[in-house]
Amino acid sequence: PPATPQYRPAYHFTPAAHWMNDPNGMVYYKGTYHLFFQHYPEGMEWGPMHWGHATSQDLVSWKEQSIALFPDKLGMIFSGSAVVDENNTSGFGKNGQVPMVAIFTHHNPDEEKKGTQKHQYQSLAYSLDEGKTWTKYEGNPVLPNPGIQDFRDPKVSWNTVAKKWVMTLATKDRITFYSSPNLKEWTKLSEFGEKLGAHGGVWECPDLFPLTLNGKTYWVLLVSINPGGPNGGSATQYFVGQFDGKTFTPQTITQKWIDWGKDDYAGVTWSNTGARKIFLGWMSNWEYANQAPTSPWRSAMTTPRDLALKQVGQEIYLTSSPAPEVAKLAQSAQTLKNLTAKSELGLSDKIKLTSPQFQLKLTSKQLQEFALVLSNAGGEELVIGYDKQANQYYIDRSKAGLTSFSDKFSGRHTGPRLATSPAADLTLLFDATSVELFADGGLTTMTEIFFPKQPFTQLKLRSGTGITFDALSYSKLAVAVK
Ligand code: FRU
Repeated sequence: PPATPQYRPAYHFTPAAHWMNDPNGMVYYKGTYHLFFQHYPEGMEWGPMHWGHATSQDLVSWKEQSIALFPDKLGMIFSGSAVVDENNTSGFGKNGQVPMVAIFTHHNPDEEKKGTQKHQYQSLAYSLDEGKTWTKYEGNPVLPNPGIQDFRDPKVSWNTVAKKWVMTLATKDRITFYSSPNLKEWTKLSEFGEKLGAHGGVWECPDLFPLTLNGKTYWVLLVSINPGGPNGGSATQYFVGQFDGKTFTPQTITQKWIDWGKDDYAGVTWSNTGARKIFLGWMSNWEYANQAPTSPWRSAMTTPRDLALKQVGQEIYLTSSPAPEVAKLAQSAQTLKNLTAKSELGLSDKIKLTSPQFQLKLTSKQLQEFALVLSNAGGEELVIGYDKQANQYYIDRSKAGLTSFSDKFSGRHTGPRLATSPAADLTLLFDATSVELFADGGLTTMTEIFFPKQPFTQLKLRSGTGITFDALSYSKLAVAVK
């Protein structure tokens, strides 16, 4: 297909060429953020999986590195995580060099054909040069498959409660926790979720980490599922609860999603970042990822997001906010104060969309129904708004450009407003083919991709009942496009 440089995001990671899916092995070490990713370096569609590699000092400008892990006789390299083994528990460290250890799923297609259900198992690789080159452990696999068809995506972290490494593993329709003193020998701890949460599809790519709220520690369990997401296809649910070093117990059984849009999947957090928890997902959906109209690469990652907890009534929710590093890209803001929109208010005379990369922030003391419309001379429009009656935010991309590559792509997608206060704040991040909505301090987050035939240049507000924004501010986000 012809190249589509106009669809290349600027501050979202994309591989230079070919297929990408899940973020893998995200680890921070000595000032560098490492992002590995599911990658097929020979094709534009999902194929024999490798771990690609990119690095960044600031989470917004990424440098692609050479491929970290290639398929081998044990299988393809599926998703997993990486840790800094500071105390050399694994013994991989030599001459005082701290090992970086990757824990990943080997997926064996030959075994799969035999139908033994044992074709996925967990293996290790280590790096003694800060992630540049990797050696697979000769004792692989370290966690063989007991006969569970879907047995994958290990997320490992040093657990301060268990005082051991804890592996959170997706095992078909539930999560299984394991522990290890040395990353090589694993003991089963417990299972979670067979009867809880969404089960519209297989469970994948989990994460388990602590966050504090008002001095109290809670444990958050992320679980991606495919399909069964709130707007169709793949999406990531989460549970807030306690982890006692062995068992995860959720606080409540309310169904929660980290992102209600269609395009945030398989996201997990960086390891080794201390109390700060930074999340990043794959900005696509298995319903149409293989057909997305970009070339010579396919798929981008979401923006990195700082996670926190917030209580609303009896519920504790996860909030997502763009990492502060993203806000640093904002050039001088243009702010419109006390802006009342009734029926339709064009903003193009005040705000010129001169770049596909920009941020909008809106605040209102009294949230009412409204729609923010981005359009271009070709008559395409992307609509982002709030439906007061349904108490839902929405993103409608049905007229926002190319949709015919998949019948699952077009549509208006919704996420509930979880905040109960009349006052609202919204942050919207735009890049060449994506919008990320963070509403009410990130209580409701929605990520969606779109492919306009030409960039959106005009902005307007619509509101039947009328709405007043205390402020609407626009800033261009400046990053050099690759
Ligand atoms: C999630 C996933 C993982 C798996 C990987 C394979 O998108 O299906 O469960 O490890 O992709 O590429």
